[in-house]
Amino acid sequence: MSSTEPIRIAPADGKLGILIPGIGAVSTTFIGGVEAIKRGISAPIGSLTQLGTVRLGKRTDDRTPKIQDFVPLAKLDQLVFGGWDIFEDTAYEAAVNARVFEPHHLEAVKEPLSAIRPMKAVFDPEYVKRINGPNVKTEGSKMDKANALMEDIRQFKAAHGVSRCVMIWCGSTEVFHKPAAVHQTLAAFEAGLHANDPDIAPSQIYAYAALQMGIPYANGAPNLTTDTPALLELARDKNVPICGKDFKTGQTFMKTLLAPGFKARMLGMNGWFSTNILGNRDGEVLEDPGSFKTKEETKLSVLDQILQPKLYPELYKDLYHAVRINYYPPRGDAKEGWDNIDIFGWMGYPMQIKIDFLCRDSILAAPLVLDLVLFMDLAHRAGMRGIQEWLSFYFKAPMTAPGLYPEHDIFIQLMKLKNTLRYMQGEQLITHLGLEYYD
Ligand SMILES: NC(=O)c1ccc[n+]([C@@H]2O[C@H](COP(=O)([O-])OP(=O)(O)OC[C@H]3O[C@@H](n4cnc5c(N)ncnc54)[C@H](O)[C@@H]3O)[C@@H](O)[C@H]2O)c1
Repeated sequence: MSSTEPIRIAPADGKLGILIPGIGAVSTTFIGGVEAIKRGISAPIGSLTQLGTVRLGKRTDDRTPKIQDFVPLAKLDQLVFGGWDIFEDTAYEAAVNARVFEPHHLEAVKEPLSAIRPMKAVFDPEYVKRINGPNVKTEGSKMDKANALMEDIRQFKAAHGVSRCVMIWCGSTEVFHKPAAVHQTLAAFEAGLHANDPDIAPSQIYAYAALQMGIPYANGAPNLTTDTPALLELARDKNVPICGKDFKTGQTFMKTLLAPGFKARMLGMNGWFSTNILGNRDGEVLEDPGSFKTKEETKLSVLDQILQPKLYPELYKDLYHAVRINYYPPRGDAKEGWDNIDIFGWMGYPMQIKIDFLCRDSILAAPLVLDLVLFMDLAHRAGMRGIQEWLSFYFKAPMTAPGLYPEHDIFIQLMKLKNTLRYMQGEQLITHLGLEYYD
């Protein structure tokens, strides 16, 4: 594949503001981790932008820079954090409650975390049940609330001398709902904001505020946000990148590692049963059937789209796939996920695989948040707008152009991501054909 002209990418000068709706377990683990890395207490384990490399040219060329040396990413000491939550706890207090970090890590980053006080949230108990808090905006219509968020952002930028921002939703999972008439065009959506349309969720109000201000928006939860014609239109009009949705961390990460392997070897599968116990606030919100349904949809879609039962009916047409999440407080953030996989091989002989993943949800999610904000800022400076499918690597339910099925295979996603970086810098895309080595 021949190389092209590099894309013009504006330099990553000045401070990058990271705006986070939801100062909970994931966001405090992310911020606390970045602060710990800045202080030399830890390494950025799990982060592709910090540790990953990209091969350029032929395998014989011996050119494999680090990704962060290849594309102009913001540096960790340029990041400034701010956010909103329905609780008044500082990020330090929220991190203590989340019980992700050991006390010695908490103490080491107490000062920067204590300085982050959440701004008043846009919240609607119809969309997130089981929790409620005092730190919310109560005045005016949904449009007034969007304007109030924009004012928050202006003040944040001025207070910290920030030149650019990225917003990433780390708030609770909102209840399942489908796009309604109000989501079909930007004009209908704006009319709906003025009229307090009940179909407009809080996450959509944050996204609207961000996009209006030319700020990229990433969705870490599975709820419906920018995946609507109205907000897609706004993102394109304002030349802003968007991506989502639902961080691909524990069990689904395992699924997207294993399922492509079984399919590659044409092994059949007739059952995959996944169950989880977790005891953090996320688990509590997911006890609500509406929020669980949102999560279930993104978790279930993965296998169907990887295994393509329509193309391989003799292998996958009878697949029974179930996902359960149970709230179990003693575990806190230390989730346990069990998978039982029923596969079959030559002559139809059955086999079973069991996985017991004792994982840490927020520890797995934090580096994804870091990579996403840095790549979204890069995409914006490179003039990329609308859905960033090359960031599918990070999501359980990658957003795609309408009518296009998502790519879930993590290794194809990684190849796509790295090829996008090569494309940005005018380097040859790597096809893995490799015939030239044998001429
Ligand atoms: N591995 C993971 O941890 C993982 C993976 C995929 C997706 N997610 C999603 O990421 C999100 C965050 O997860 P978490 O473990 O940090 O949850 P959490 O409950 O610890 O934090 C979420 C925070 O969002 C706040 N919130 C709710 N609605 C809000 C609103 N409208 N505005 C501002 N704040 C609001 C809550 O008060 C809470 O503090 C969840 O939606 C979760 O499903 C997490």
